[in-house]
Amino acid sequence: MNNLRPVGVIGTGKYVPEKILTNSDLEKMVDTNDEWIVSRTGIKERHIAAPDQATSDLAYEAAIKALESAGMTGSDLDLIIVATITPDSAFPSTACILQDKLGAKGAAAFDLSAACSGFVYGLATATSFIKSGLYNNALVIGADCLSRITDYTDRNTCVLFGDGAGAVIVGEVPEGRGFKSFDLGAEGAGGSLLQLEGGGSRLPASAETIENKKHYIYMNGREVFKFAVRVMGTATLEVLNKAGLDRSDVDLFVPHQANIRIIQSAMQRLDLPEEKVVVNVDKYANTSAASIPLALVEAAEEGRMKAGDTVLMVGFGGGLTWGASVLVW
Ligand code: UT7
Repeated sequence: MNNLRPVGVIGTGKYVPEKILTNSDLEKMVDTNDEWIVSRTGIKERHIAAPDQATSDLAYEAAIKALESAGMTGSDLDLIIVATITPDSAFPSTACILQDKLGAKGAAAFDLSAACSGFVYGLATATSFIKSGLYNNALVIGADCLSRITDYTDRNTCVLFGDGAGAVIVGEVPEGRGFKSFDLGAEGAGGSLLQLEGGGSRLPASAETIENKKHYIYMNGREVFKFAVRVMGTATLEVLNKAGLDRSDVDLFVPHQANIRIIQSAMQRLDLPEEKVVVNVDKYANTSAASIPLALVEAAEEGRMKAGDTVLMVGFGGGLTWGASVLVW
């Protein structure tokens, strides 16, 4: 990236709903077992939104904490980006709902759809806007309520997903810190490997789409797994290259939390020891756009980064998409 003003993370917050769904709970719902889920995915439990909670409610809780940690209120924001594939409704955007709730009068607000890569796409978007001088303080949130689009009779998918939200405030930081590079990409040809077909302009909601379960996530797990392993490696090396850094420069690796085996393959490729890798897939499962910010914010809360550390985030997901970023904390 060019040498316009340095932009980085100046506040963090996260939220997960109270209710926990464990593997043993799922054993009572579908033909599965704790041993299969843990050995194939690393997941032990996930959080599930209450019936009266929508994505904007999870996002709001995370946003309030991020604003507090930045010493700001909603009125300090001039941009709000919510990365999500489970907006409260098709429109208005979840970002606009949030803008109102936060009292961020006049701030630009929009949702961003890049599935599990959405948060990194959102960081790149906010950083570009701020570097250009168009805006100063952006709220970037990854929030999803995947439980609302999960078929709890399908063991192939229902064990994998959870709900949550992670938020950061993006703004100007001291020289030498902030975002050093991004690598975003997509392979639209693989879109049908991971999708929710119903409810859009191609297949509007109807009795037939409901009967055919078109309002639930469909995933070809094996093919997505192969894509994930490939792009986690290539995107990571590419984003390091763009930042002029080497694998050994990474102090903390914050990968998308979809499957422990995918994370381990990236660790091997990058030759990273466990203490440099954030893993919380066991507690939250795959929360889509919330996954990377939940991991990043949790690591910050646990004091795992100090000023000047090099943090590498990388995610992949529906689209198919990927996104990686190097951030000096
Ligand atoms: O963020 C979005 C991106 N999504 C992902 O990253 C997911 C990527 N894919 C994966 O993580 C893995 O492919 C899965 C965890 C989804 C599946 O693991 P796998 O090792 O690829 O298993 P598989 O699909 O090859 O299935 C192996 C067997 C099958 O039985 P058969 O056909 O061999 O008899 C499945 O029916 O495991 C069966 N199976 C289950 N068994 C018990 C699938 N789900 C379950 C389950 N419990 N929940």
